Amino acid sequence: MKNNLDLHRYLREYTFFENDPSGVQLKIVPSRPMTRFTTLTGPGGPLPVYINEFWTSRQRQAASLHEISYRACFKPQLPRFFIELLTEQGDTVYDPFSGRGTTVLEAALLGRNVISNDVNPLSEILCRPRLSIPDLEGIHQRLLAIPMDKTRSAEIDLSMFFHRETLGEIVSLQDYLRQRHERCLEDTWDRWIRMVATNRLTGHSRGFFSVYTLPPNQAASAERQKKINRNRRQEPEYRDTRSLILRKSKALLKNMTPEMSHNLRRAGTSALFLEKDARDTPEIAEDTVQLTVTSPPFLDVVQYSQDNWLRCWFNAVDVREIEQKLTVTRKLEDWTVVMAGGFSELFRVTRTGGWVAFEVGEVRSGTVRLEEQVIPLGLRAGFTCEGVLINQQDFTKTSNIWGINNNRAGTNTNRIVLFRKATRPYRQPASF
Ligand SMILES: C[S@@+](CC[C@H](N)C(=O)[O-])C[C@H]1O[C@@H](n2cnc3c(N)ncnc32)[C@H](O)[C@@H]1O
Repeated sequence: MKNNLDLHRYLREYTFFENDPSGVQLKIVPSRPMTRFTTLTGPGGPLPVYINEFWTSRQRQAASLHEISYRACFKPQLPRFFIELLTEQGDTVYDPFSGRGTTVLEAALLGRNVISNDVNPLSEILCRPRLSIPDLEGIHQRLLAIPMDKTRSAEIDLSMFFHRETLGEIVSLQDYLRQRHERCLEDTWDRWIRMVATNRLTGHSRGFFSVYTLPPNQAASAERQKKINRNRRQEPEYRDTRSLILRKSKALLKNMTPEMSHNLRRAGTSALFLEKDARDTPEIAEDTVQLTVTSPPFLDVVQYSQDNWLRCWFNAVDVREIEQKLTVTRKLEDWTVVMAGGFSELFRVTRTGGWVAFEVGEVRSGTVRLEEQVIPLGLRAGFTCEGVLINQQDFTKTSNIWGINNNRAGTNTNRIVLFRKATRPYRQPASF
């Protein structure tokens, strides 16, 4: 979609498609209404707002490879919508706040080149291994070759989370991976096992190494876990870490096709992973990125470092060091200052004619609408603003588009502000 007017027509006439049971996108549901349309008065004039069920799991099944939990991650269908619409094979897709790497992975699966950045080193640990996926038998053999000593203990008390013998295995694994890394011997299988083990550490089912606790993207503090154990009258039971890692690996690789594996490998060879502040990424050349799909940290809504303290411990990542680098702003003015810097950097790296899809949420119970903050920042950086897309699951049921919360509050609505680095000096389109 190279032309703005084509894009606006496409969004207005967008028709809901539905998966058939095998996941193939076949059926058009003609009775469904097309996009609802309104306008938002922004600093550059009225902007179109398109509301529809643009991307939902009802429409397209996502690759199982995405199923790694991360705080405030978006669904793969969201980046996919923009990647398919606004890029071609071989184009570069970027995410400056990459998290678990949803955008990057989806772009790689679709044969695009990728750049990932996140100030949290866990982001690369969770994403890179999924760009060069190993075979299950190789993972199994490597797991058997790792010496596991069930009697080992950790330097901190983790008995409220793990059975003594499970912890022995976790520490053995941690030590093995550390040594392989220090000796520059870490390979595809080690990195995969590190990624899966990091994901399996704690959670709320028997598929995790821990006793029942908070969901895997939110580690409880030791004190809180003691309380959970008391309330539930539970004690950690032994978990076989090797078989849980293998089981999760199988689940992740469940619906991989040879074409998907090939695309991932291709993207993986040229992928750039950065661990920088999104405002300062000189490693990315000017005018190279065709599309950015991203969601920034939202004010003080999510504490990425506290949520990840056990994952950081396992990977010898210093939580306090990350805490200082992460953007956790309490005041809207501070948040906009950081995001303004992010937009200038995005403008530098975006190709002329390229796009930025910037996901924002309602924060503080809808009293702050971040799209209204973000639009002037993008314009000031030099972008044009093409409008706002609101993806609303069960589109027909909800009437008040401004009154609903985004998926962080438990529903399935996302708001995306769409910017473009225009080919010519910006002029508001005569009609959307
Ligand atoms: C909303 S999450 C992104 C989630 C991602 N879309 C996904 O699907 O996993 C925001 C991310 O921004 C990262 N972050 C926070 N401050 C940053 C900064 N100044 N520069 C780069 N990354 C930052 C956090 O570590 C977090 O992973």
